[in-house]
Amino acid sequence: MKAVVLKDWGSPENLAIEEVDQPTIRPDEVLIKTKAFGINPADYKTRTGTTPYAKNYKSPIILGWDVAGEVVETGSEVTRFKKGDAVYGMVNFPEPGNAYAEYVASPAAHLALKPVNLPFEQAAGAPLAILTAYQGLLEHGQLKKGQSVLIQAASGGVGHLAVQIAKAYGAYVIGTASGKNREFVQSLGVDEFIDYQQTPVDEAVRDVDLVFDTAGADTIFTSAKVLKPQGRLISIAYGDMAKVLETRPDIHAERILVHTSGSDLETISGLITDGKLIVTVQEVLPADRIAEAHKRLESRRTTGKIVLTF
Ligand SMILES: NC(=O)c1ccc[n+]([C@@H]2O[C@H](COP(=O)([O-])OP(=O)(O)OC[C@H]3O[C@@H](n4cnc5c(N)ncnc54)[C@H](OP(=O)(O)O)[C@@H]3O)[C@@H](O)[C@H]2O)c1
Repeated sequence: MKAVVLKDWGSPENLAIEEVDQPTIRPDEVLIKTKAFGINPADYKTRTGTTPYAKNYKSPIILGWDVAGEVVETGSEVTRFKKGDAVYGMVNFPEPGNAYAEYVASPAAHLALKPVNLPFEQAAGAPLAILTAYQGLLEHGQLKKGQSVLIQAASGGVGHLAVQIAKAYGAYVIGTASGKNREFVQSLGVDEFIDYQQTPVDEAVRDVDLVFDTAGADTIFTSAKVLKPQGRLISIAYGDMAKVLETRPDIHAERILVHTSGSDLETISGLITDGKLIVTVQEVLPADRIAEAHKRLESRRTTGKIVLTF
């Protein structure tokens, strides 16, 4: 089969399509014929070889966690899926998912049936970002109907889904992005939009119940400032949370890591089926343009998701 192989840790140019062996499946796994695969910032961070995840890879190194495709084989213990099912999921995160490939072996527990109204390209862009948004807002953020939530980087892969999930759960939603993304973020249903390049966020927002910070670095200090006492700051990007808590000891501040869950994905699939959650794919590229896709995502200026196909 064809796969995008990382020849050596480092630059995007080290990614190239090669012929490799098709994976075999364990009894609890299914084999997916890939229709599309998604990319995430975790991919380019792993590509450099500097993340803790990098040490778990064996040769040939195949990156990627997000996949959508058709089940072509099921392990003897698998009861949830059958041959021919259209599925999507975040495979094995943060262990190697090997999703940049024509065939992907995945534990059945990491997958959900793809909603019929979700094209494969959109499905491939969804799992890691959607699970992060869902777990960040509901599980860690404990978001409740009627609460106010600030979503930092509301135009990004995670942020644009977080806006819609928060709205679907009945929150008052404020989103930040630069002015070029104003219309896009407003189209997602935010109650307020803040162009962070024009208006200091901590001047425009005050006393929110929850901040979901997908921007990271210095934004977490601004995020902490705008919370009401006992409010919750959930960050998914890098940043010094201990320092944040020194400035706001009266809030709950936490940096989270998404976890694989086919059942969470199934719950969110309901929102997609009901038309309450739309996955925006900025671009679908052929797999041989993977280096370009990584560079574009690494610019931190993309809107929604980038997806690739073989
Ligand atoms: N911990 C976890 O489990 C987890 C899971 C998923 C992702 N992450 C991390 O979370 C971060 C976001 O992921 P992603 O996939 O959403 O990234 P992404 O799609 O690359 O985010 C790009 C978006 O960020 C916006 N942005 C950049 N700086 C901003 C700022 N200061 N304020 C507001 N918006 C800003 C950009 O909007 P403009 O162009 O308009 O500025 C752009 O639309 C990454 O660092 C990723 O590694 C962590």
